[in-house]
Order: sequence, then C-alpha cells, then structure tokens
Amino acid sequence: MFSSQIAPYLKKEGKVSYSAPSNIALVKYWGKHGVQLPQNASLSFTLSNCKTLTSVTYSKRETNSQDFDFKFLFEGKPKPSFEPKIQTFFERIYKYCPFLKDFSFVIDSQNTFPHSSGIASSASGMAALSQCLVAIEKELGNGLSEEQMLQKASFLARLGSGSACRSLEGPVTVWGAHENIEGSSDEYAVKVPFEMHKVFNNYQDTVLLVDKGEKQVSSTVGHNLMHGHPFAEQRFQQANHNLKDLAEVMQSGNIEQFIHIVESEALTLHAMMMTSSPYFILMKPETMEVINRIWKFRETTKIPVCFTLDAGANVHVLYPESVKEDVLSFINRELISFCQNKQYICDIVGLGVQKL
Ligand code: DP6
Repeated sequence: MFSSQIAPYLKKEGKVSYSAPSNIALVKYWGKHGVQLPQNASLSFTLSNCKTLTSVTYSKRETNSQDFDFKFLFEGKPKPSFEPKIQTFFERIYKYCPFLKDFSFVIDSQNTFPHSSGIASSASGMAALSQCLVAIEKELGNGLSEEQMLQKASFLARLGSGSACRSLEGPVTVWGAHENIEGSSDEYAVKVPFEMHKVFNNYQDTVLLVDKGEKQVSSTVGHNLMHGHPFAEQRFQQANHNLKDLAEVMQSGNIEQFIHIVESEALTLHAMMMTSSPYFILMKPETMEVINRIWKFRETTKIPVCFTLDAGANVHVLYPESVKEDVLSFINRELISFCQNKQYICDIVGLGVQKL
C-alpha cells in the first residue's frame, strides 16, 4: 500500500526540513516480531521540546546505481559513525521509496536536547528523517494527501525504530492494532480517535536526568528478551487491556486511574527486564528514591503527579499544567539532588512533526 513508482520525476534537486519530537509511552511497546511489528499496542504522549531538526538535500544522480549515496551530518559536521544505521534504514525502506537510489542525499540533523542526556534520539531522529523522505517523494510527484503523507512517514519511521512511528502526530498516538482504537494498525501509528478530557491538555513531562550515560541495554537486545520470556503472553495481553482502560480514562478525566495505569506500566516494563534471561536492573538507587518521594508528595499534598520510565534510569514526571508551579518547586526542593549535575528537562505534550 505504501509502494510508489514516480519516475519521471518532477524535480532534479531540492531541500526539505522538518522537526520531529520525542515521545513518552504510557502503555509500553516491549516485544516485537516480523519486520518491526509490535507484540502489543502502545500509547504515548508526543512531546514538544525534545526534538530532532533534520534537513535533507537531494540531487538527481547522473548514472544508475545499485547503491545508496548519502552523507550524514550531525550539527553540520560529518558523522560517519551514524551512516551504517541509515544504510540499514534505507535498505529496509527501499521497496517503499524506490527513488532513494536515483538521488544523492545530504542529511543534516541536530537535537534540541543535550547529546549525552540519556534521552534517546532514535524516535525523534527517525521520525524527522522519514517525514523529510516523504516530503521529497511528494516534491518528486507522488501525489499523496497530507494525511497519507503522515501515515507513510509513520510507516517508514517504524521500520527505523518502532517507537518513532508515534512521533509524527500528537498529542496522543497509538501504534498497534487494537479493537478499541478505530483505524489502529501494526504498521503505523494513529492519533487517538477521541477527544481527551481537558485535564490532559498541555500535560507536563519533566525528565529527571538520573543517568546520562549510554543505554545499558539496547532496545534491540531488550525487545529480544521477550522471545521465550516466561511472562511474555500475559504481558502482551495486559498491555492491550491497559490501553483499553487508559483510553477510557483519558476521555473521562479520572486521573487516579490514569496514575495507576501509567505507573503500573512503567514498573511492569522494568519487571519484564528483571525477569528475563539474561536479567537486568536498569533503575538506579536514585530512580527508587525519586519514585518514593513522588509517592509521598502525592499522598500528602493530593497533587496528581506521577512517573513513568523508559528502558533506563531517568524518571519522567507527569502532571497537569494546573499544578506546574507546585510540582516544579517540589522537584527543585526534593528531587534535583538525585539528578546528574542537577539536570532536568521540562517538556510538554505536543503535536508532532513541523515543517521548518
Ligand atoms: C521502552 O522503539 O527504541 O521506550 O523498535 O528496536 O527501535 P526499536 O525499539 P524502541 O523501543 C522503545 C521501548 C520503550 C517503550 C516505548 O517507547 O513504547
């Protein structure tokens, strides 16, 4: 459905630029099969401030070639160490983007978040690059509508990194076919087809940088741990069940239930790693400290703040915009000492890719 032959091309050269944000999963994707297909549906908040800005310059090649021709620049400087990743990505998406071998590309990318912050750039990076490639395809004459472009960009991004497919649109997207989410698919993410309760408008995500190092377990290794995992099947069912409940809660505005599902998902993700073979503990003592303090603060103040985690030690603190001041002063008072160099990043739910 996403294949397209478009020669003769309408243009010989050009440049496109897009930004794409990171996203934070509330229902986690952990376990995949086939070519980047998820074992369960996942749901995430699209973010705003943590993003990748990518420009792609393209020019028609004079001779036919069996190879790709591209250069990758990071913050304007050549970064050959990233090129194998893009080579693999191009190989994977070539059948959906046959123009890739007919042009030379210069890909120039930069992130708005610090390089070694422990924040993965694969979601925002793959989403931005995919959106650029679809925009080029459009300039070359493929005639896709805006909606079809976003869908194809999400489809391509998924082939680069699963969770990246959730970064094209916002504020909330679902990836993975789910009976309660109309239009949902294993192949690309969709915006949730319902109106959210207003408490979730401008929801805040403050990322506490507990550990800024390289990921201890790469996502490829991590997802593989779910093959033959003794609790895998129950976990996939649980995730789909949580997604159904969370979709309801996000419409009704039942924030207590929201907190319950979101925190349980985060802890379950880590429980899966602790119970796999080999096993891992990706939380640090500071992660636990932060979690306990959030629980205590919530209990004493009744302020609806909660946490989620990705596959690492950093803590995402989630809360409604209306309690921002209270939560930020709590973070500065009690949590900042658990962050490396006292660093944290304030983000907020956003709408996905933007043309630059
Ligand atoms: C824990 O999308 O990074 O963040 O498909 O192998 O690139 P690949 O994995 P990736 O996995 C993300 C896992 C997670 C949960 C989530 O974002 O849903």
